[in-house]
Formats: sequence, C-alpha cells, structure tokens
Amino acid sequence: MNLILLGPPGAGKGTQAKLLEERHSLRQISTGDLLRAEVKSGTEIGLQAKAVMDRGELVPDAIIISMLERQVEGATGTSTAGFILDGFPRTVPQAEALDAMLARKAMPLHHVIELQVDDAALVERISGRFTCAKCGQGYHDRFKRPKVADTCDVCGCHEFTRRSDDNAETVRARLEAYHRQTAPLLPYYAANGLLRVVDGMAEMDTVTAQIETVLAGSHGSGTEPGQA
Ligand code: AP5
Repeated sequence: MNLILLGPPGAGKGTQAKLLEERHSLRQISTGDLLRAEVKSGTEIGLQAKAVMDRGELVPDAIIISMLERQVEGATGTSTAGFILDGFPRTVPQAEALDAMLARKAMPLHHVIELQVDDAALVERISGRFTCAKCGQGYHDRFKRPKVADTCDVCGCHEFTRRSDDNAETVRARLEAYHRQTAPLLPYYAANGLLRVVDGMAEMDTVTAQIETVLAGSHGSGTEPGQA
C-alpha cells in the first residue's frame, strides 16, 4: 500500500506516518527529515536547502524530485509493504514527477490523505513541538509530554531539540507557502479520485482511527473517490 499524507505544517503528518509505519510495515519517506539530514551532514544539497528552509520557503523542485526518486528506488524490493510520503509532493510539478516515477515502476498510489487543521491550531502545535535528540521521538509541550519529565519514553535520553524553522515568523511563511503552492494538490488528487479527507483537529488517537477507517476501505469520515 502506497500513501501520501498531505496537510499544512504541524497538521500531524509526521506523527501519523510514524504510527502507520509501525502498524502496517510501511516505510515513511519524509522529505523534511531527508533535508535536515543533508543539512546536518553539510552536503551540497544541505547547504542549498538550509537557507530556504529557515525562510520557510520550498526547496526547488529539481532537488526534491531527484532526492525522492532515490528513496522510492530504495523502497522497491525491500520487505516493507509500501511507503508513506510525508511532505511530498508539495507542488503540482512534484506530483506530476511522482506520477511519472510510479508509472515507470508500475507502482500504484492507493490513497492521498489530507489532514485538515485550522491555521491557528497549527501555530500552537508547531511552537510546542520538540523531539528526542537521540532517537527522534516527537513530543509536544501540551499535547504529548514524556511520561517522566525530561526523559524520552522510547530511549530514556534526557536531551531534546527544537527545529530552527519552528519560530513564529518562519511558521507564517511555511503556512503561506502551503496555501499558495501545496493546496492546489487537493483538486489535483480529488480529480483522480484518490483524495480522502480526515479531521486533523481531532485528538491524535481519533485521527489515527479515521486514517485506519480509510485504509480499511470503508469511507467513513473520509471523502468518497472523486469528491473534494
Ligand atoms: P517538513 O519537515 O515536511 O515540515 P512541515 O510540512 O512544515 O511539517 P511538520 O513536520 O512541521 O509538521 P507535521 O505535519 O509533520 O506535524 P507533526 O506530526 O510534527 O518540511 C520542512 C521544510 O523542508 C519545508 O518548510 C521546506 O522548506 C522543506 N521541504 C520539505 N519537503 C519539501 C518538498 N517536498 N518540496 C520543497 N521543500 C520541501 O505534529 C506537529 C506537533 O503537533 C507535534 O508536536 C505533535 O505532537 C502535535 N500533534 C500532532 N497531531 C496532533 C493532534 N491531533 N492534536 C494535537 N497535537 C498534535
């Protein structure tokens, strides 16, 4: 099963992708995580991407598409049952490149799941987000605190990090980029009957349950094929 999680910054794409990865043996491919790894390693791509990401703008399509192609290539022939794209595509040219890539490999795309969240809630979610410095487990100051204060639930590490693009000014730019460049993908995927809509304002477990309903083939609160 191959999926796309679509939604604005802070909608919960990464949170839900990690849960789906475990439950369905899918492989999460997050272009944001890939770019941050390039930045950390100081590669040519990382050097080009860092300033763009810090401004909250989108990294050029050509860089993203070639990076993604290598990942999809790597996902074929592995033991995973498919992939979840988290943060890709983000522009119509990226979606067209993905269609061509999947057609060349005869790989289907099963669902495009949109997590709908109000802009005001997104700012609160992003400004409260932090991750374990060792294993990358995600937390939130209000919505998902570690069970023991200052201790990662997964690996016991006491060190946490916050993303440099999670500040109010950059979040505004990221939201603007989403509405201008990524939202046009909603009619694109509605037109080919793949779009399913989930209420991303609900609590995390409820969002997960809505996604599971979509994956089970029951349309429940999701959108019927062909509907926006
Ligand atoms: P990227 O890393 O993809 O960031 P993003 O899309 O802005 O999304 P986020 O990771 O911020 O949010 P999320 O939806 O994953 O939410 P999360 O689950 O963490 O991209 C970063 C940058 O890289 C871009 O700005 C761009 O420059 C570049 N880039 C990446 N891909 C690109 C592409 N394809 N083309 C061009 N440029 C690209 O949740 C957020 C917080 O909310 C967490 O703390 C979580 O605990 C909490 N939370 C989650 N769900 C809920 C819930 N239901 N209720 C309450 N809290 C919740």
